[in-house]
Amino acid sequence: MKGIILAGGAGTRLYPLTLVTSKQLLPVYNKPMIFYPLSTLMLARIREILIISTPEDTPRIRQLLGDGSHLGLQLSYAIQEKPEGLAQAFTLGREFISSDPCAMILGDNIFYGNGLGAKLAEAKQSAENGKATIFGYYVEDPERFGIMEFQRINEGGRAQYQVLSVEEKPKEPKSNYAIVGLYFYPAGVSDMAAQVRPSARGELEITTLNDMYLQQGLLNAQLLGRGFTWMDAGTFDSLRKATNFVCMLEQYQGMSISAPEEIAFRYGWIDESKLAESVKKYGKSPYGEHLQAVLENKIIL
Ligand code: DAU
Repeated sequence: MKGIILAGGAGTRLYPLTLVTSKQLLPVYNKPMIFYPLSTLMLARIREILIISTPEDTPRIRQLLGDGSHLGLQLSYAIQEKPEGLAQAFTLGREFISSDPCAMILGDNIFYGNGLGAKLAEAKQSAENGKATIFGYYVEDPERFGIMEFQRINEGGRAQYQVLSVEEKPKEPKSNYAIVGLYFYPAGVSDMAAQVRPSARGELEITTLNDMYLQQGLLNAQLLGRGFTWMDAGTFDSLRKATNFVCMLEQYQGMSISAPEEIAFRYGWIDESKLAESVKKYGKSPYGEHLQAVLENKIIL
């Protein structure tokens, strides 16, 4: 299974902050924003990841994350010349994806919750069995998102969610469940994405791609319920909320969240000496001290 982080776009909603830097490199509390979606893909145990960004920002992101070997990952990079739509990621990434299933996460999307790993594992399994998965999250302002209409069915005592329709930023939303920026697709997604035609606003919409899977009976949905937090940190308000959220969690728990080096170490993708190199690199910062505590086995879970 491959993974893509889509980290392009002009970030105009964050001007002047993003005039000379990438939105996805801005701080969310004490880490660059991109650490959060990267951690989410790693929690799905995806190790081959393509990062797509603008011509200006791709070199900056590469400077931060390199080839991923310090994380036991294989990171590669591709440029999106213009922000022509989310579905374009799969045609830009055609060679990288090859004949594998592929997940995509938006570079400004932050996920947090106990049990996320299990949900990701289920979506990954479905993609390997030929079905796409989208995730729904309750929002108060559904006009701003891709929205899924669904019905709940009980299968052997277990709730399943059958998607009835998906719509991009509908004027009259059929539900309050936003489709978050994390998608799992089966093999062949590049061919499917190549058939997406630009929408009325001129974009190759991910919602059109999801609708194609829905029409073929190949779209699963999972809900991220009350135990989960999802944020898209693309506006001043949501960026501030994301920072407050991570700060609060880390101060209450007394430990860091979404530290890619820690995830890599726990999964056995890097050994102690590699982790020690990162500890040295991050020095006396709280992030470095957190990794030091992981290395010394003070933090077990
Ligand atoms: O955040 C979830 C929402 O993301 C979904 O509910 C919507 O269905 C989906 O269309 C998308 O909506 P947004 O209005 O948030 O899309 P936006 O154009 O802001 O792009 C999302 C991120 O992807 C943003 O960080 C910029 C980046 N991007 C966007 C486009 C269109 C790219 O890197 N390349 C692109 O071509």
